[in-house]
Amino acid sequence: VKITYISHAGEARLVEAASGQSAMEAAVHHNIAGIDGDCGGVIACGTCHVHVDGTWTDRLAPPGEKERDMLAYIDNARPNSRLCCQIVLGEELDGLVLHLPIAQH
Ligand code: FES
Repeated sequence: VKITYISHAGEARLVEAASGQSAMEAAVHHNIAGIDGDCGGVIACGTCHVHVDGTWTDRLAPPGEKERDMLAYIDNARPNSRLCCQIVLGEELDGLVLHLPIAQH
């Protein structure tokens, strides 16, 4: 599954991730700056916040209640914000594009 992470500065990194991984795990594995995944993917840290590219927003399963609650606390959250530890990669997401917000909290 190919995913592109675009830094706030506009630098794109294409990574090849395994199906079944989360987009946070793939980012940490590939040292994508700006995605820390401090809590290991249990919706407790918010350090995996991303803005989903507009071409993909309709193609992801919507966030669950716990994720929505956490997003409400994150600065610079937008309607296309997600916690990428909750985006589980599969072939249907091949080509996914995620933008990194200016800062993680
Ligand atoms: Fe902590 Fe996603 S890794 S909320």
